[in-house]
Amino acid sequence: MDNNSPEMQAIKAYIEFVGKDVPKGEKPKGSGIFVLPFLDRAIDPVQGAKIYAAKCQSCHQANGQGILAADSVEYLYPPLWGANSYNMGAGLFRMSRFAGYVKYNMPQGVNFPESQLTDEEAWDLAAFVNSQQRPSMDISSDWPKIKEKPVDHPFGPYADQFSEKQHKYGPFKPIVAP
Ligand code: HEC
Repeated sequence: MDNNSPEMQAIKAYIEFVGKDVPKGEKPKGSGIFVLPFLDRAIDPVQGAKIYAAKCQSCHQANGQGILAADSVEYLYPPLWGANSYNMGAGLFRMSRFAGYVKYNMPQGVNFPESQLTDEEAWDLAAFVNSQQRPSMDISSDWPKIKEKPVDHPFGPYADQFSEKQHKYGPFKPIVAP
């Protein structure tokens, strides 16, 4: 990307803006994605669908396609699945990342440390949304050291005997048990 391109200037302006009150080398409390504790059970897309209908679809829509802004370029509410949504290589496609993100950021307006979702609701929402169709991406070479693959990386092979399904939906505790 050219240093003088509008895109590069915009990214630079944004980074300067988010960092303006933060001393160099310090990580502000509440930044990043929260790590939620694992549930004792597998996470449940059927439960997640109910919570989605109650707390998410007013913005992201029943079909998950979100709503385009009036300019038809930007999204007012981004799609959560389908051709224009995040792809299978995105961090959000990992259940723990999705659950930790929505717990303290969604529905829009909530801010860490407040939340409108229980841990179970956040996990089940992840199961529901990440069961839908989305653009694929070949990430088979992302983890050359298989042992270091995150437990909820949804694509094998794994260093253990647990199935791809269990790595995606849990229960995760038996996999991480020493
Ligand atoms: C009041 C409208 C509104 C509601 C309700 C809402 N969202 Fe959002 N959501 C947004 C907006 C706007 C964004 C874009 C990011 C931002 O502004 O924070 C977003 C972004 C997201 C993203 C990130 C998508 C991406 O590709 O980066 C996810 C995931 C998400 N929402 C999930 C949910 C879930 C799950 C719920 C229900 C608990 C929910 N949202 C409820 C408005 C809403």
